[in-house]
Amino acid sequence: MKKSDLSDLAQRTPEPPVSWLMASALANPQLISLAAGFTDHATLPLAETTDLFRELLRRPRIGRAALQYGTTAGDPELRHLTSRRLHALDTAAAGTPPPSGVCDPERMVITSGSQQLLYMLSECLCNPGDLVLVEDPTYFVFLGIVQSHGLQCRGVRMQADGLDLDHLEAQLESLRRSGQLRRLRLLYLVSYYQNPTGITTRLQKKRHALALLQRFERHAGHPLFLVEDAAYRELRFHGADVPSSLTLPGAARRVIYAGTFSKPFATGVRVGFGLLPDGLRQAVLRVKANHDFGTSNLLQQLLRQALATGHYEHHLQALRPRYAAKARHMANALQRHLPHDVAWVPADGGLYVWVTLPPSMPTGRTSAFFQHALAHNVLYVPGELCYACDPARPKPNHAMRLSFGGATPRAIRLGIQRLGDTYQELSP
Ligand SMILES: Cc1ncc(COP(=O)(O)O)c(C=O)c1O
Repeated sequence: MKKSDLSDLAQRTPEPPVSWLMASALANPQLISLAAGFTDHATLPLAETTDLFRELLRRPRIGRAALQYGTTAGDPELRHLTSRRLHALDTAAAGTPPPSGVCDPERMVITSGSQQLLYMLSECLCNPGDLVLVEDPTYFVFLGIVQSHGLQCRGVRMQADGLDLDHLEAQLESLRRSGQLRRLRLLYLVSYYQNPTGITTRLQKKRHALALLQRFERHAGHPLFLVEDAAYRELRFHGADVPSSLTLPGAARRVIYAGTFSKPFATGVRVGFGLLPDGLRQAVLRVKANHDFGTSNLLQQLLRQALATGHYEHHLQALRPRYAAKARHMANALQRHLPHDVAWVPADGGLYVWVTLPPSMPTGRTSAFFQHALAHNVLYVPGELCYACDPARPKPNHAMRLSFGGATPRAIRLGIQRLGDTYQELSP
């Protein structure tokens, strides 16, 4: 079949980087992959899941219901429990409850991974040629969705405590001046232990970002949404939780919150959720009805049980010290094996450490560094994949995203040592 026989969308969709990263890892069993966003294998909740399924399927009425189709919006009890958990998280983090109704189950959609929500948002809010604002760098799979849908991106620089608000304002102002604000639809933020940098955005910054979007709406002529992707929120191992954007004034109308059970429970389960403003939620439900008319009911029931019985919380408590230890292994190894002109910040949560090499040491897929690292049997995500195609700047190409999630502590140490060897080899 010729490429031109495919739809515009299919033609705009290149092979996702995640495919060749996975293929490289599978092709070579000796390879240490610090690339994939996999979670810790040994702590996946095997015993808990076995118990939960046994309990679920033991009673014929409940068991049969779980094996039947559910609803498009998702199981009401799972929505209720998820909404209660989120309300409690935000109340504890902010010291006061979020605005009334903002976390309600009636505003929630259960999705097949939060990835499905991100995809449906692009479908429901954007047309080809439209614009989205993303962090610079951002979650590279979101960039794939954007490219598939024929959208353009503008990157907003990051600071140690999140989005650079001056740059956000400058980007909005530049779009206004060039008449492109009418094409802007949303700002996408991975606000907790960001993929790829590990940065968490302060609440104050989220507040200002939302206010800026609201200020520029007048010129856009339509709503500008703040999409808060909180995929890593619960994988916190140091410091206090940060309140979500749902706690901000105006959140019910303009904030879209994307959450997932993949990272804190089991990536294989792939159940996520979204809280959406009215109107948009209806549109997402109609589109979801065409996608799959509801996320796997059995898996939703599993999570419902996990939340209701406390297994979920128990698992999370076991997970956090494990990730803290792995992050420490990575930090110690980076300290030991990489020279001083290589910059990185230890992780407080999530799965990633963003390592910036000097500009003289590019890390892209075709670079000497990437090829030598492969020859040393170690794989990372080239930083350039995480940058949008923004005409306003060349893509930075000398960083790498390292994950401490899936690898064992020994593999983490060895992998970093190999990256250190690679660096030494290529240093002048
Ligand atoms: C920032 C971010 N958002 C969303 C997702 C999608 O997660 P899932 O679809 O498993 O919920 C990921 C997965 O790695 C991610 O890193």
